[in-house]
Order: sequence, then structure tokens, then C-alpha cells
Amino acid sequence: MKVGVLTGGGDCPGLNAVIRAVSRRLFARGHDVVGIREGWRGLVDGRFEPLGPREVSGLLPRGGTILGTSRTNPYRVEGGVDAVLEHFRTEGLDALVAIGGEDTLGVGAQLHAEHEFPVVGVPKTIDNDLSATDYTFGFDTAVFICTEAIDRLHTTAESHNRVMVVEVMGRHTGWIAVMSGIAGGADMILIPEQPVSIEDACKEIRHRHDRGKDFSIVVVSEGYELEGVADEGEVDEFGHVRLSERGVGAQLASQIEQQTGFETRVTVLGHVQRGGSPTPRDRVLATRYGLKAADLVHDGSFGRMAALHGDRIVDVSLEEATTELKTVPPDWYAVAQAFAG
Ligand code: F6P
Repeated sequence: MKVGVLTGGGDCPGLNAVIRAVSRRLFARGHDVVGIREGWRGLVDGRFEPLGPREVSGLLPRGGTILGTSRTNPYRVEGGVDAVLEHFRTEGLDALVAIGGEDTLGVGAQLHAEHEFPVVGVPKTIDNDLSATDYTFGFDTAVFICTEAIDRLHTTAESHNRVMVVEVMGRHTGWIAVMSGIAGGADMILIPEQPVSIEDACKEIRHRHDRGKDFSIVVVSEGYELEGVADEGEVDEFGHVRLSERGVGAQLASQIEQQTGFETRVTVLGHVQRGGSPTPRDRVLATRYGLKAADLVHDGSFGRMAALHGDRIVDVSLEEATTELKTVPPDWYAVAQAFAG
């Protein structure tokens, strides 16, 4: 078989490790691998590059993606789906491995449902918001980076008796905020799934200071709903606004300072969370996902996605994985709340 591989959506550490694992397993089974440039855009425009053993060597620790990525949605480009099908045919491809989150894999699911498109998915995103898998790769690295930042902010917060607000990514779910907040010992964690009013948040901070703690660390997810902060601005081809533009961290910091009188600063971690080398856990997860995806292709099991259930790598339907977002359940938030205030 000749198998295409693409990476779509926001990049994240571990993409190259998946490309390596998919390719190595497919080579071992006698198949050819072709890289598709910049996600679905590469299939719309017909941009390919052959991947051989040399191209996929040295990729395991490398951040980003050697194939490039984009947020192109063929269903939003005029003639996009026809172009995808045509380029797939003329390039002589027999199967596709799509490595992405809900948007990239959602396109794969739709193409498979409507055109029996031979696609297999690998769940990627620092946001960890894909259903049908316990974890996506990239998430562990993002949490590691945020935790390290929170540790560093602790020492400076304590020295200056300040409240430090840390804004982290995560789009409409609070996975990164909750996990890094627990790991970093944050005093308050604010996420989209658990609305807490600014008054209640300030009450908790005052309570903590009344107990003799002169500093506080507040981790806020970029999608947290705060009065006066609106989702505005351009949307991408999947209908998402750029949440970093909302400036929820800065707004929150200013409201905390106004309401409590405590000196407050904000740190927005931004794309640092997606950069650099994957953690060992993400390297291993990405590798296991890549091998599974290659096996699914080899077996002709299309419309499926590699997934983690407990400690086992299994496969699930792409449709199941992309129908709804996986939000933070209340019991996870309760772990964080045990240390609030
Ligand atoms: O989905 C991954 C993610 O990093 C989100 O957490 C964030 O909201 C978004 O991508 C940022 O997108 P961009 O890279 O286009 O700024």
C-alpha cells in the first residue's frame, strides 16, 4: 500500500514521534509512506513528499511537525472535498493516517462516512479534550511546562506578597489548568466547566490571606467565562475564535486587584505550552499510537482511531471520538478544590 500521513490543527510535542512510529511499522510491513504537507491543505492543494527511513530518522525527541500543519477545513474551501478525493487518487494513495484533534479527525470521520475514505486517526492535542480516549499525546508535555512555570511563579509570588494569575491554554475545557494546577499546588483553579464568580474567587483569596498566606497562585484556563470578557474576533475554518485574544488572565488579575487590594500580576503562557521536546510519557504514547495506527491501516480497519483505555492501546470509531468534547468531570475538579483558599 501507499499510505499518506498528515498532521493537522495546532502543533504539539509528539507529532514527529507518531510520524516515525507509523512509518517504521509500515516500512516493516512492506508499505510506502508519503508525507502530506500542512494538514488537509496538502490534500486540497496536492502537496506531497515521500518519506523514507532517512526522513523519519532522529524524530523521536523533536517538537513540532516535519510535515507542517494548518487549520484548513476542506469542507469550508470551495471544491475542497473534491480536490482532496482527486489528489488522493492521482497520488495513488491507498490509505491515510490523520494525526489531529477534534477538527482534523472530524473531517476524517465525515469523509469516511460520506465517501468511505480509507482513513485512520491518531488523537493529538495539548487540550486533552477528545472523547473515546483517556489521554491525547502532547497533553503531558503541556502540563509539565505549565507546572514548571507555576513552581517558578510560586517563589517570586512569595517574595513579593503578590497574587499571580497564570493563564493556560485548553480552549473550551480545563484539563491543562486542572492538572497543572494540582501538580503545581495552585491556590485556585478556574476552568470553563465550573463557573465560579469573581466575588467568590476573591473571597477565597482573602480567606487565604487572612490565614497568614500573603501570596496566592491562580491558574485560569483561557476559556473561563468571566463577566466583561467576550468571544470576539475572527474565527478559523472550524469556527473557533482565538481565545488568547479574550485576555481573560489580564482581566481577572485586574479585577482581583481591584476587589481585594492585593498586588496582582499575570503571566500568559501561550504557545510555550506547545513548543519543544515531548516528555518521555508523550514519546511513549505517541509511539504506541503510531504503531497501532499503522496496524489498523495494514488490516484495512478504516474509520477507526487509536485510543488509550487505562494502560491499553485500543481502537475506537472516529465518529465516537469526534461527536462531543471530553470535558473535565466534577471529581477531577474536586481534587483541585480540596486545596483551594
Ligand atoms: O488546540 C490547541 C490550542 O493550543 C488551544 O489550546 C488554543 O486555544 C489554540 O490551539 C491556539 O491556536 P493558535 O495556535 O491558532 O493560536
